[in-house]
Amino acid sequence: MIVLGVESSCDETGLALYDTQRGLLAHALHSQIAMHREYGGVVPELASRDHVRRTLPLLNEVMQKAAIQKHDIDAIAYTQGPGLAGALLVGASFACGLGMALNKPVLGVHHLEGHLLSPLLASQPPEFPFIALLVSGGHTQLMRVDGIGAYQLLGETLDDAAGEAFDKSAKLLGLPYPGGPEISRLAEFGNPGVFTFPRPMLHSKDLNFSFSGLKTAVLTVVKNQTANICEQSKADIARGFVDALVDVLVAKCVTAMKESGLKRLVIAGGVGANRQLRAALNAAAAKRRFQVYYPELEFCTDNGAMIAFAGAMRLKKNPAAATRDYGFNV
Ligand code: KG4
Ligand code: ZN
Repeated sequence: MIVLGVESSCDETGLALYDTQRGLLAHALHSQIAMHREYGGVVPELASRDHVRRTLPLLNEVMQKAAIQKHDIDAIAYTQGPGLAGALLVGASFACGLGMALNKPVLGVHHLEGHLLSPLLASQPPEFPFIALLVSGGHTQLMRVDGIGAYQLLGETLDDAAGEAFDKSAKLLGLPYPGGPEISRLAEFGNPGVFTFPRPMLHSKDLNFSFSGLKTAVLTVVKNQTANICEQSKADIARGFVDALVDVLVAKCVTAMKESGLKRLVIAGGVGANRQLRAALNAAAAKRRFQVYYPELEFCTDNGAMIAFAGAMRLKKNPAAATRDYGFNV
């Protein structure tokens, strides 16, 4: 069975073809980062319009790469939400229109399920059950995953997501959008301990997170600097911020591993690409004797492959999951 995946929830248009027998056949992505950069963040109207422009050429690209024809597609999975309404509507209308034209069934996929399952696209995927840390621009969650569709939420952020904290703090430091990778790069030149930021909820007895206070602490420090904050100070602030955020994420993961007794930890979502987070998790995993799995770097941030894969797994489990009723919800 070949499933076409369509992702358009935010500022990336991603299409991919996943074959349940042969694996990922092809994927293609267009990132709108350059377009949104001058505005310091995603402009929803521009995002929707760009998805309209990009989707069909990307479909042609993946079909060419996979050397298949449209009628070889067995089902179409599209990101149903959460995301920007206009952007989601583009992907949903495209998928449903194509499904109707080809008389192929369609199914809506939860964007976070796509992220959650993305590490299973790796050449040596983890087996179930595992604990998953989902860290994206919009979400921070710890889940127990026992199989496809068997997800138990263990904890989540009470306010800002980890990626949001990265992006907002980066903006305070005058770094371009998206701030996550930028602040991470800058932090490499920073000295540890020059700025010590709070570790919110580090000692709370649950697996929840809170990152808005961390961003406010960065704001306070930035405001207290002289008008022309020097590059080294910026790097030191970035380092203090990354150290605090990573400390909390790793500590909560370790607690979840201890409490569940499981031996596999899976990281998913854009912040999962973060170098400092990966290094700290790898060290914790070696010390505590559990395994940690990451998606391929290109599948950490939004992409079509994770949607095609999640759709294919859903259909494998339940062939009736897709429908020829082409009305859609986003
Ligand atoms: O998963 P994703 O592509 O989109 C959402 O579903 O939200 O995640 C995007 C987020 C952004 O906040 C971005 O700054 C962050 O992931 N991000 C990073 C890195 N790469 C992307 N944060 C820290 N370090 C990175 N290397
Ligand atoms: Zn995402």
